[in-house]
Amino acid sequence: MSGNERIIIFDTTLRDGEQSPGCSMNLEEKLRMAHLLDELGVDVIEAGFPVASPGDFEAVNQIAKTVKSASVCGLSRAIKGDIQAAGDAIKPATKEGRGRIHTFISTSPLHMKYKLQMPPDEVLNAVSESVTFARSLTDDVEWSAEDASRTEDDFLCRAVEAAIKAGATTINIPDTVGYSVPEEYGAKIAMLFARVPNIDKAVISTHCHNDLGLAVANSLAGVAAGARQIECTINGIGERAGNAALEEIVMAMRTRTDMLPYENNIDTKRITKTSRILSAITGFSVQPNKAIVGANAFAHASGIHQDGVLKNVQTYEIMTPESVGLTESKLVMAKHSGRHAFRKKLEELGFDLGDNALQEAFDRFKRLADKKKEIYEDDLIALVEDEVVRHNETLRFISLQVIAGTTGPQTAELCLNVEGEEKCVKVEGKGPVDAIFKAVRAIYPHEEAHLKLYQVHAITGGTDAQAEVTVRLEENGKTVNGQGADADTLVASARAYVNAVNKLLLKRQQKNPQKMGVNP
Ligand code: KIV
Ligand code: ZN
Repeated sequence: MSGNERIIIFDTTLRDGEQSPGCSMNLEEKLRMAHLLDELGVDVIEAGFPVASPGDFEAVNQIAKTVKSASVCGLSRAIKGDIQAAGDAIKPATKEGRGRIHTFISTSPLHMKYKLQMPPDEVLNAVSESVTFARSLTDDVEWSAEDASRTEDDFLCRAVEAAIKAGATTINIPDTVGYSVPEEYGAKIAMLFARVPNIDKAVISTHCHNDLGLAVANSLAGVAAGARQIECTINGIGERAGNAALEEIVMAMRTRTDMLPYENNIDTKRITKTSRILSAITGFSVQPNKAIVGANAFAHASGIHQDGVLKNVQTYEIMTPESVGLTESKLVMAKHSGRHAFRKKLEELGFDLGDNALQEAFDRFKRLADKKKEIYEDDLIALVEDEVVRHNETLRFISLQVIAGTTGPQTAELCLNVEGEEKCVKVEGKGPVDAIFKAVRAIYPHEEAHLKLYQVHAITGGTDAQAEVTVRLEENGKTVNGQGADADTLVASARAYVNAVNKLLLKRQQKNPQKMGVNP
């Protein structure tokens, strides 16, 4: 132990992160992420907004039942029914002293007047009442002043004091619209420490959005001013431009302990894996030049840099790839590997598949091994993710034949299983991918949906690399990301498109997907 001050890492990937368009996850996916976050060492997992829908409630509840170390938190507005739902959902964790209710209300003049349409005194009453009620359900209560960075100092001090008096143990100061700059945000936190008489009774927390690209800088400025909890998400996903990225905050603290003398509980070697699995689950890939987890974050392309790194790695590298768990993707299996070895390897990689899913994944592994000499860890992750993603789909991919090349017409002959019935079509298009997507539309019409993104990524090097394809569709303002992986790029494209359509069907069934406007 260095004696440095401890920072609480509050992860909101499954709540604020999940609010990004196209980032919604189903129950199984949320549970997997929650367990990865727990292994990563986050202190608090904000698992969702229980009153928003039965699905959200169930996810928070299941996470509270199964997560072993982290505290589990449910979000609620300052409304009794919301708080009760959050309290009920986190109950299994509360019984073990790890259940947190996070209740919030807006405090800025703009939000109080237009969004809440409540006078300031009524807002203050709501703060006291909501926190008091939350404290009757758990001892761990966080209160947030939504739009705090645009709130007048006097009113913010009164609201924070009232929340602490009512029993809040954590006070969160969100920069909800990502408007602050570091000096200003740090000064706001310092002002609270100077003026709120009971401030020492609570942990002060940062929650910064990235609209101006300053979320991480603002969070660190908040910590320098005395905040001891940071709210953040993996890969920085979140509303609009996202939230402060967990990996950037943690690695900044680890790399610059001289300037940032703080500790946290994160096992940084698990960062890359957590980031990749989140991308695979959501279909939200990380930009190549993203700090810490982007594909180029540790790549030295220019000759001068390569030469320097060969002579002394510190010339151009301020942290090692190994410190974030980035190692050469390991060669793991070959054509003759058996089912037992396959299961064992998946367990090592953190996948625990049921018998049917395991058999399907194993069959696909054998087919892949026929085409690809060497199977790497990343191949297995993509293959299994693809299998898990396809669980319980209404439309299932069966087969595809494509005619492509310079002399058209490019044609796709596609067979899908639609709710148990096999349907096949042969369709022409302006290129093979266009033909495939048209074929899916011909089998299962979805006129209202528009293609927003088609992206191909090679999982490993070499011409026999598996392709990982992301397809984004939008229908009536709702966005979904579908993914597919296969050694054949066109098959991966068909799988990704079919996956996106399945997700749209799920969205249509969801009753209340808007999350009730938590953020503006
Ligand atoms: O950005 C925000 O203000 C929020 C609150 C609900 C904490 O996400
Ligand atoms: Zn937020």
